[in-house]
Formats: sequence, C-alpha cells, structure tokens
Amino acid sequence: GQSQAQAPSQPASAEKKITLGFSQVGAESGWRTANTKSIQESAAAASIDLKFSDAQQKQENQIKAIRSFIQQKVDVIAFSPVVESGWDTVLKEAKDAGIPVVLTDRAVDSKDPSLYVTFLGSDFVEEGRKAGQWLVEQYKDAKDPVNIVELQGTTGSAPAIDRKAGFEEVIASNPNLKIIASQTGDFTRAKGKEVMQAFLKAHKDIDVLYAHNDDMALGAIQAIESAGLKPGVDIKIISVDAVRDGMQAASEGKINFIVECNPLLGPQLMEAVQNILDKKDIPKRIVTKEGTFTSEQAKEALPTRQY
Ligand code: AHR
Repeated sequence: GQSQAQAPSQPASAEKKITLGFSQVGAESGWRTANTKSIQESAAAASIDLKFSDAQQKQENQIKAIRSFIQQKVDVIAFSPVVESGWDTVLKEAKDAGIPVVLTDRAVDSKDPSLYVTFLGSDFVEEGRKAGQWLVEQYKDAKDPVNIVELQGTTGSAPAIDRKAGFEEVIASNPNLKIIASQTGDFTRAKGKEVMQAFLKAHKDIDVLYAHNDDMALGAIQAIESAGLKPGVDIKIISVDAVRDGMQAASEGKINFIVECNPLLGPQLMEAVQNILDKKDIPKRIVTKEGTFTSEQAKEALPTRQY
C-alpha cells in the first residue's frame, strides 16, 4: 500500500522559480535608471529570477537579447522597445516558442496584437497634451507669435512620436504658438545641450523650450545659461518625467512645468508576470497614473520624491 509518510504536496510554482527575461532600452536618462531599479527590486521581492539585458539604445541588441531569452526558455519575456517599428519577426519567434511577451513603458506598432499579452506603461500622447495645455493657458492673451523650440526624444520611439503629436494637437488651438525648430536630443543630457546650443545660434527669439524629457531640458539649461540667458525666465521650459534632478531645477524656477511620467513599473510588471503564468485574464493595456508639477508644486513634492 501507500506510505503514510508522504511529504505534503507542493504547488508547482513553489518548486521552480519563475524566470523573466527583460530587455531594457539603455541607461540614457534618470527616468531609465529609476525604471531599471524598480524592475530589479520588484523581481527580487517577488523571488523572480530576472535575466536583465541593457541594449544601449540599439534595437539590434534588443533583438539579440530576446532571441537569447527564447533559447534559454525563460517563462516570460518583457521589454521596453527602443523604437516602435520592426518587431514582428522576433515577436513571432517568441510566440512560436510559446513564451508570453509583455511590453513595458513603450509600445510597438505591430498590426498583430496576438504577438504580446499586454502593454504596461504611460499614455505618452496624453503627456504631450498636458504639456500643450499648460502652454495654451500661459499664453492665452498673447498678441504676438510665441516661438517654441522642441527637443524630441529618440527618433522613432513611442514617447517621441506621441509626445510630439499630443503637444501639437493642443497648441493648434492658438495660431500664435509656433514650433520654429524641432530636433532629436535622443533623451540624453549631452545631446540636449548640444542641440539647444545650435537652436540658440540659429534663433535669437526663442520664447519656449519643450523638451520630451527632463535630462534634455537639464542639458539645454546649461546651454541657455552659457548663452547668458535665464532658463525659466528668458526662455520658458516645459519637460516630461519629473525625476529628482528635473524637480530640483523646477523648484529653482529653471523649469516652469513638468509632466510626470512614472518609471516605477516594476511591481505591476511582476504582478502581470505572475498572473500570466497563473493563466488569469489580464487587460491588454495597463495605463500608469501620473500628474503634473509647476515650480511651486515641485518645491513641495521634492523632499518626498523617490527617484
Ligand atoms: O520611455 C520613457 C522615456 O524614456 C522617458 O520619458 C525618458 O526619459 C526615457 O529615456
């Protein structure tokens, strides 16, 4: 007969650690650093075995990482796609291998939604709209043209495309608001500074800078100060993210308005991974909640800011 001294049966999930392969965009900004930390800490807290790979802002590196995760037979693949296009082939490979894929932070433009389970991240178009709404309100009585320069994020990335679109949609309501120059600063401080220097050389009459992230705005502030102008006063500045250094500049009045983009996606990602493996239904789109900060509000929020 059966032995009485059997070990109590364990659920399968307690026996084997979940393996998650994560391909990160890079380390281009303060936002990205906070996002990476959130994912690493949440994986550790959930006892998930995280295989983390940094793509250094290159799509080819992300494709390689995803292929290597497929070979290693991880349980789930998650990634933040550096650009929107060109993912169908590798996503199809993951699907054929039976490995579920979660998009975090940035979307892909794939026509086939069966290639990923869910997309968890911000609504970047809405962020662009919030930036535009503040500007429209600031200049509602302006009689003269308002000259705006724009520092775009990484070319072809979802946040660059969407933040531009949302902003343009809203400022179209006032024909005085004109984007006179727009270029990529690749979401980095160094590029933000370099491109702002070129803008300042080419245009003597810049009223507003719209930067798609805090890091580019911080680089641009250096260029503006070197040119003998006062950031936040001579040139009004709007940016996106609300990371600590951005909030610091805002609290000093150098950035006038910041639209928040929440990088702390780790806990929601780990929950999604667990739910997928438990075969629970999860929504196709999970949007993160975020606010906005004026200089005054930044000063108040700064002491308790986590990142
Ligand atoms: O995808 C999110 C964007 O990527 C952040 O706003 C920017 O700072 C980062 O580099």
